[in-house]
Amino acid sequence: MSDTEGPDLELQTRAIRAGRGHSGNALAPALWATSTFRAESIDDARRMAADITNPTFYGRHSNPTVADFESAIADLEGAEAAKAFASGMGAVSAVVLGLCSSGDHVVAQQQAYSHTQLLLQAVCPRFGIDVTLVDASVPGAFTEAVIPGRTTLVFAETPANPKLTLVDLDEIGAIKGPMTVVDSTFATPLGLRPLEHGVDLVVHSATKAIAGHNDAILGVVAGGEELLAWIRGFAVLQGAVASPFDALNGLRGLRTLPVRLSQQSATAAAVADCLHRHSEVEAVFYPGHPSHPQHDLAVRQLDSFGGIVAMDLVGGLDAGCRFVEALRLAQLATSLGGPETLVTHPASTTHAGLLPDELEAAGIKPGTVRLSCGLEATTDVVADLTQALDSL
Ligand SMILES: Cc1ncc(COP(=O)(O)O)c(C=O)c1O
Repeated sequence: MSDTEGPDLELQTRAIRAGRGHSGNALAPALWATSTFRAESIDDARRMAADITNPTFYGRHSNPTVADFESAIADLEGAEAAKAFASGMGAVSAVVLGLCSSGDHVVAQQQAYSHTQLLLQAVCPRFGIDVTLVDASVPGAFTEAVIPGRTTLVFAETPANPKLTLVDLDEIGAIKGPMTVVDSTFATPLGLRPLEHGVDLVVHSATKAIAGHNDAILGVVAGGEELLAWIRGFAVLQGAVASPFDALNGLRGLRTLPVRLSQQSATAAAVADCLHRHSEVEAVFYPGHPSHPQHDLAVRQLDSFGGIVAMDLVGGLDAGCRFVEALRLAQLATSLGGPETLVTHPASTTHAGLLPDELEAAGIKPGTVRLSCGLEATTDVVADLTQALDSL
């Protein structure tokens, strides 16, 4: 973005223009495909090495294309700074392990992406970090679980994977003491800006709607400079660094995110409506649908309801398996936010590692199916889902 432009431009406009600081006068973002940079003298080399944010020293520290992606995300989130990672989990693990130490306590939610849950429940205890999981849909649950003087981090995810449970970010932002983090992958910066609610850090799996074309694995954290400095310090040793190619795909994705999100949300609304009326569907989960248990919060908090819909099928596990195999247009593949409509069956894939009581706590039933609406014609997507449901 040029110096003459300001944050008063609409997000949709900024998404197209942000993150060009290292692209010269190229219209499209430039790819800096290099792992290292030449110094002109030993003094120069010393200066380059001393600043961990220097994008032209060594690729594990930073890179100009990656730095441009980071500055675009910081701009859209209204953050002082951002740090990109090799994946969403690279970002999540850097936040948790970079900010917490042995003896610390973390409050997180039962309903969250399965690998975030595994990190919190299986890895954190090995490092002496205690974790309390709460039901995110219960008002006040996060606040009540905070242990004054001991809780270091509150980690929320909204809308949560896979059943779109929402977290009231005004509650999270009002928590004083611990650092607060929100994984806002499903919402994207166009749907939700957690920092505006007083939250300290926002995390994205940019693999999803931000890069948006199922061709990149990328993560990012944005927030205040002080916390970002800790995270960068950890990240340079963790080494889960974003590749310049994926950062380029992140910048490419941002330019069409507004139109993609709006088309996917329109399809998701039509899909939710159709599923809601079908006799093989026990329940539909879409924040934009009046049947969502937190629909009022969704209307208050989200600028876009997004392209993800979940449902529980009446026929349970058998129906879940038969349904995904009966689809002709929607494809059975993990991930979300891309141009193709994708379908997953969490109980047998993303959440297969969870124990039965953990599955239940996450609200996942044997017949739960998650849909990521793509960019195909809405009528084609709805027709495909209808024919697969009719076949049950
Ligand atoms: C909400 C959420 N956070 C984090 C991740 C992890 O992202 P990645 O696969 O890029 O590591 C995912 C992946 O599905 C996710 O859905």
